[in-house]
Amino acid sequence: MSNEPSIENPTPKVKPSSPIRWGIVGVGNIAGRFAQGLNFVPNTTLTGVWARRESESARFAAQYSTQAFATFEEMVNSIDALYIATLQDSHADYALRAFAAKCAVLCEKPAAVSAIALKKIQDAATEANVLFMEAMKPPFFPLFKRLTKQLADEPIGDIKFVRAGSSIPDAPEDHPSFKLELGGGSLLNIGIYEAFLAIYFLGKPLKVQTLGRVGESGVDIFASLNVLHEKGISQLFSGLDVDGKGDAVIAGTKGSVTIHENWWNPSRATVHYVGGRVVELDAPFEGGGLNYETDHFCELLRQGATESPIISHVLSQQMISILDVAREELGVVYPCAIDHTFE
Ligand SMILES: NC(=O)c1ccc[n+]([C@@H]2O[C@H](COP(=O)([O-])OP(=O)(O)OC[C@H]3O[C@@H](n4cnc5c(N)ncnc54)[C@H](OP(=O)(O)O)[C@@H]3O)[C@@H](O)[C@H]2O)c1
Repeated sequence: MSNEPSIENPTPKVKPSSPIRWGIVGVGNIAGRFAQGLNFVPNTTLTGVWARRESESARFAAQYSTQAFATFEEMVNSIDALYIATLQDSHADYALRAFAAKCAVLCEKPAAVSAIALKKIQDAATEANVLFMEAMKPPFFPLFKRLTKQLADEPIGDIKFVRAGSSIPDAPEDHPSFKLELGGGSLLNIGIYEAFLAIYFLGKPLKVQTLGRVGESGVDIFASLNVLHEKGISQLFSGLDVDGKGDAVIAGTKGSVTIHENWWNPSRATVHYVGGRVVELDAPFEGGGLNYETDHFCELLRQGATESPIISHVLSQQMISILDVAREELGVVYPCAIDHTFE
């Protein structure tokens, strides 16, 4: 037998005893939450950050007691794992440059603006034999794990329906979500979470039907989707102009679950069984919540894995594919420069 590392079993790059050295590209809202969350992930360190505006990089580095790298390349050559916290139009660019330095990547959602762009990222990660995962946080929360155990111990029968949605009424006019050229719109910014939940419980999407509203800038302001999956139907919505409650319902033949708002940062759920039994699940989270997916990613990195078994490449492809179809049905077209990155 050959001792050469294979794609299935590559050589772990980080020793169990060494802290995993993280870097962050982009220093906005979510980068701050990630940096705070890293304090809750054992055996990790924030080695440094890089942002395109030097002053912002320096501000963030001072705030989180780390260094501001002079260049992106210098950073990815000095770390084990990169957290991509820029807007989605640039995720592919930074991911590919990180893979070139053999650096693992945890990439904010949506990992790319289209299935084509995502495939390029995933192919490049596979080619480089490095770990890549979309930062889809819900399944790593303590509540989600409690719920999974509850449903294994006391199933709700065959799960055939998922309803999930969220809409925010008060995004400022200059928010990137309204900008077509940045991959804006409610689907990519919010709907990706809903697509995850539906696929997680109902399997592969087979057909998508969409109604919605497109705003003046050309992005989807509201989208309502009916999706046919292998195991059932989901009803999903995302919006940028109305106040929509962010809870989720998972319905089976012997009961149903409500994950209370905001379901993508879950801490409470109610399980109703046919016959009247009700089980309340309560599992507060610490560290802001991004720390759980980060912990999972660090474990994968130490094992030498190149893909998460939970947020797999296939799952990420299925999520973005639902949104691709919905955008097409609404007539939302991103500029080629971001949709077909690196052609
Ligand atoms: N997981 C979650 O809970 C969650 C929550 C919110 C957002 N997100 C996702 O996280 C990502 C960032 O969102 P955010 O709310 O943190 O946005 P934000 O506050 O606007 O921050 C974005 C950061 O990325 C930088 N940036 C944008 N485009 C860039 C480019 N082409 N090259 C280099 N830097 C660039 C910005 O730099 P400048 O200041 O120079 O523009 C800024 O530092 C989005 O993909 C979003 O969907 C995830």
